[in-house]
Amino acid sequence: MKPIKVGLLGLGTVGSGTFNVLRRNQTEIKGRAGRGIEVAMVCRRNVALAKQIVGDSVAVTADPFEIIRNPEIDIVVETIGGCDLARTLVLEAIAQGKHVVTANKALLAVHGTEIFAAARDKGVMVAFEAAVAGGIPIIKALREGLTANRIEWIAGIINGTTNFILSEMRSKGLDFGTVLKEAQRLGYAEADPTFDVEGVDAAHKLTIMSAIAFGVPVQFDKAHVEGISQLQAADIKYAEQLGYRIKLLGLTRRRDNGIELRVHPTLVPISRLIANVEGAMNAVVVQGDAVGTTLYYGKGAGAEPTASAVIADLVDITRLHTADPDHRVPHLAFQPDAMSDTAILPMTEVLTSYYLRLRVADEAGVLSSITTILAEGDISIDAVLQRESAEGERQTDLIILTHQTQEGGMNKALARMQGLPTVLAPIVRLRKEELA
Ligand code: HSE
Repeated sequence: MKPIKVGLLGLGTVGSGTFNVLRRNQTEIKGRAGRGIEVAMVCRRNVALAKQIVGDSVAVTADPFEIIRNPEIDIVVETIGGCDLARTLVLEAIAQGKHVVTANKALLAVHGTEIFAAARDKGVMVAFEAAVAGGIPIIKALREGLTANRIEWIAGIINGTTNFILSEMRSKGLDFGTVLKEAQRLGYAEADPTFDVEGVDAAHKLTIMSAIAFGVPVQFDKAHVEGISQLQAADIKYAEQLGYRIKLLGLTRRRDNGIELRVHPTLVPISRLIANVEGAMNAVVVQGDAVGTTLYYGKGAGAEPTASAVIADLVDITRLHTADPDHRVPHLAFQPDAMSDTAILPMTEVLTSYYLRLRVADEAGVLSSITTILAEGDISIDAVLQRESAEGERQTDLIILTHQTQEGGMNKALARMQGLPTVLAPIVRLRKEELA
């Protein structure tokens, strides 16, 4: 049988990785897919450089529309990133009847509903394993492997840059700014690190996983997004003393009244496997009612780990492209008429527990005035740690861990505590998840 023909939009890290792995493992890939998968055309602005990577046997263009309108091409792989041009190209590829593989989480988290609808209308597949957690086959696991389950929650370390920074801050006791500079020097962080360090990249990935897990549309605009740039080394140290690690978690959970969708720094017990995921690695925990807890671990970025996911999608499409579209795996796991409109909960309705650090005057009655406010807010205390004051010092750090409570109530209690004259600095509030 003739090979299926692929056009690569973008020949950067992911595009080149895909080209190289496809060529290196072509015999095995063909054996699995049932026919060869051949890159027929690539697009990169710097055509000369592209030619150096792919050689003479592959057509090279600087115009992405040449790939999209090429009748020989069956599958378009989009690795250019960004939203505007990528959206135009993907929608045009679909309109031309081509299947699409994309690694673009921002595109799907924001425009997924439109893109999946267009693909359904045209009877083509849009595959996106590489968009979430790079080489970890988490989309496959959620959409197919765990299909028997009612998913209860997902918690993931889904941004390698921030996990690298947090690991360095903890192991070396350094502050965020120092480690960020080092991460940039080593190539772990971009020159403009905003998307990674402010939690946006993780929220894109979480939005996609949440939609698949709960059968709701992708709703990035409803996600709570908080990064690590304000995190202080002192809190990492105190958390450690209390038996916790701080991780940037993406967390989505089914509640009776809606779905939680949030990314923020989170205290996780050191005894949990996910708390021990260090450096730039990714990990995702999925809790299903039948299977219990499952954990997926691996590289969340990089040329060949991401290529591994892109090629898995290429193989799936090669196997399924002649199947009746109604018999393919739905984009978001649920059939379109079985999707749910369950609301994403506002943060004030989220249930979680807390780590609070208060800089307080070291004098009689301070602890009791704080615990009274928490008690009046029906917030139960789990543990208290008071740092010993240095000699002659008249203030100290008071660390409080709470049991689970609603965030709206915690906000009110925090405002009252902050108003106490004995609370001397802005209170640090972090969320804590037992992931039990
Ligand atoms: N910048 C991402 C990370 C990889 O640091 O994990 C691509 O999503």
